[in-house]
Order: sequence, then structure tokens, then C-alpha cells
Amino acid sequence: MGSNTCLVGLQWGDEGKGKIIDILTESFDIIVRYQGGSNAGHTIVIDGEKFVLHLIPSGILRKNKSCIIGNGVVLDPLQLLQEIDELRGKNIAIGGNLHISELAHLVFPYHKKLDEYSEGEKGGEKIGTTRRGIGPCYADKMARSGIRVSDLFCPEYFKQRLKQVVDEKNRIFVHLHGADELSWEAIYDEYLGYAERIKPFVCQTIEFMDKAIKAKKRILFEGAQGALLDVDFGTYPFVTSSTVVASGAASGAGISPRHIHKVLGVMKAYTTRVGNGPFPTELTDKTGEHLREKGGEYGATTGRPRRCGWFDAVSAKHSIMVNGADSVVMTKLDVLDNQKTIKICVGYKIDGKEHKYFPADLVARKEYEPIYEELPGWQEDTSKMRNVKDIPSRTSDYIKRLEKILDVKIEMLSVGPDRGQIINLV
Ligand code: GTP
Repeated sequence: MGSNTCLVGLQWGDEGKGKIIDILTESFDIIVRYQGGSNAGHTIVIDGEKFVLHLIPSGILRKNKSCIIGNGVVLDPLQLLQEIDELRGKNIAIGGNLHISELAHLVFPYHKKLDEYSEGEKGGEKIGTTRRGIGPCYADKMARSGIRVSDLFCPEYFKQRLKQVVDEKNRIFVHLHGADELSWEAIYDEYLGYAERIKPFVCQTIEFMDKAIKAKKRILFEGAQGALLDVDFGTYPFVTSSTVVASGAASGAGISPRHIHKVLGVMKAYTTRVGNGPFPTELTDKTGEHLREKGGEYGATTGRPRRCGWFDAVSAKHSIMVNGADSVVMTKLDVLDNQKTIKICVGYKIDGKEHKYFPADLVARKEYEPIYEELPGWQEDTSKMRNVKDIPSRTSDYIKRLEKILDVKIEMLSVGPDRGQIINLV
């Protein structure tokens, strides 16, 4: 049995996956992003220096690792080039270690414009997207109006296709929104410029992955966002537009599911959500504010304050199921250090009835009440702890209770943003 691992978020994203991926990358040769786009944002702190990655896999921060942007990712070349420049400015080498799938779809300025219009028109029901054009780009991919990385290198075909798509979008911009037309010529020139710069990184990642698998290279699939934002399994329509869960890693990386040997879930010791949509355990009181401040719960991509609340075992269980998570890493345990009591949501009360599963109609219902179990807090500083024997007994009780409710092993605890702030439980 191989060791290829898919790391996925089990909540609404921002679980601190970046840090865990960074720790794990040491044991892998290849790190692959398989979905999402520049709407994701991993934050990694190494010796006090902060790196925010949106498109490039976190493996880029270590030497001798191959990083793949898979076909399932939607690529904004401007964002990518900015990220490359920023990383190079911090002395991170980027060259033969970055590979971009020629099958990946490109994000264009009209996607961002469509994102803005569609959010603007949703009134009180905004999805809360990052307005980076990700949803409209995936919509074009499915509607067969997308333009892929490989098209950039066939200028005549690219020109013809771009003209056709921009003409289509202009009809929407002008007739529906009374806005000015976009110039396909300007976009064409802009993107041919990007093509020159990204050319050294573009390759047939399918073949690259096939060779790597045959050579028994160890592969880490790096999930962005979280299962509750998955287009099928999340709180639809308040979701992202891609398959976030582990099953998406195979199609988004261009490999067979047979080559993923382990699924590792990442969840915070509490819950957060950025953007709109149902959040049964949300705390709008002082405790919620405390979690936000202590946990630094502000979006890595947009700086938006995140909504905070208690750990929701009902939704976490759903995520563990749909991902088939073999085990779990729990992050941000230190953020709960000051709490006198800690609550775990073990069910929802809907129309007077208790539900133990994650309902599909949470968005439609609006009226639901979390059912809590309460545990005493440990009120000790866990951020300096590195060994199992240091863990306060009340912290252990919290971990064990979660393992029991979720029916999964918690194999690692993260107790601070730095690489070293980790406790291995296995
Ligand atoms: P997405 O892919 O966008 O969902 O991002 P992510 O899951 O990588 O999370 P993100 O980087 O947005 O948020 C995690 C934040 O928490 C970063 O600022 C990390 O430095 C920080 N962090 C990670 N682990 C811990 C931890 O155990 N304790 C504390 N206090 N902070 C942590």
C-alpha cells in the first residue's frame, strides 16, 4: 500500500490546512492542487515569516519538491504571476519545481465582472464569494465556453474562441447591466503576454503524474476550502463551485482514485465560516468575538472577518463520511485555552425534532437550533506544549469525546501558527 495522501478541510475552509500541508510536505515528493482557484488562501508561518499562497501548492516553500497545479484548478494567470514574483522576492526558488496543467481553465476579466454582477443582484441572499471570477469560470467550463491554458499557445484558435466568448458576455454586460463592452483585443494581448511568462511551467501534468506514480513518488493532494463548501455536499447554494472533497482529487489531478491511499481531514477545535449561509453553532456574542480575535479569524484572501462558533460535530461527521477521512488533524486548539466551558454541537433541533445527521435542507429551513454537550475548559496555555504527556487532562477529555462522537482518530494537534507548534498523538 502506498502513502499518497489527500488532505481536505472538514468545515467551511480556513481550518489551517496550509500549516499542516507545510509540515507534511517534508515526507512527500509531489504536491498537487486539484480544485479551486485564487479564492483559496493558505497562510503558512515559517520562523515568524508569513507566506500567503493562493494558487501555488504549499510544497513550493520546501526545496526539491514538485508542485502541480492540476487540471481541476481554474487559473488566473495574473494572480499566479504576482504570487510567483512575491515568493521570488522572499527568496523562494520557482522554476522547474512548478508544473501547470495545460488542461486547466483560465479565469478572464469577464468572469470577475460576472461574479460582481451576480453577487450585486442577489440582494440579501449573496453567496459571499471572493469576486475572483471562480464561479463564472467553472460555469463556463461546464457550459463548454471555457478557454484552457493550452489554448494560449494556439494563438489563432485562442483569438477566435476569445472573440466569440467576449461577444457573448458583452451582450450580457450591455443589455442587462447597461455597462460598457469589454475589448477582446485588449484581453487577447494581455493574455498572450501572460502566456509567454507561464510557458516554462506549462506541461502535460497527466503524463507527469503517471510517470511519478510508476516511479513510486509520494504524492500529497492539497485540498483548498472545505467539505461544507463542496458544490455537492456543502450548504448549497452557499458553496464554492468545485468538488472540494477527496473524490475530486482524482479528476482534478488527472489520476485514478486507486492512487490515493489515505484521506486526512483537517478541522479546527471550533467552527468558522466566511461569507453567508447557514452556520448552526454561530456565536454572535462575546465568546464569538473572543474566538475571532484570539484565532485571528480574518480571511487570508479578502481580510473579511470570519463568523465564529462552537465545534459542530454534526456537520463534521457529514464531512468525514463524504471524504472517507481515515484520520483527522485538529488545529487551533490553543484558541480555546481561555474558555471556562466548551460546547460541542451533537444534534440540531428542527421543528421540535432532534436530528443527528446534516440535513440537505438547512438553507431552506432557516429555523434550527443546535443541541449542545458541555465540557469544562482546561484554562491552561497549550501553545507551548509539544508532547502528549503535557496535554492537560481536560484537553484530552475534549479530544477523546470528539473522537468518540465523530468515530475517527485525531492524529495530530496544532497549538499555534508556527511549524513547530504541533503535538503528534500517534
Ligand atoms: P483555505 O484553503 O483558504 O481554507 O485556508 P487554510 O485552511 O490553509 O487556512 P488559513 O491559512 O486561511 O487560516 C489559518 C490561519 O490560522 C493562519 O493564519 C495560520 O497561521 C493560523 N493557524 C494555523 N494553525 C493554527 C493553530 O493551531 N493555532 C493558531 N492560533 N493559529 C493557527
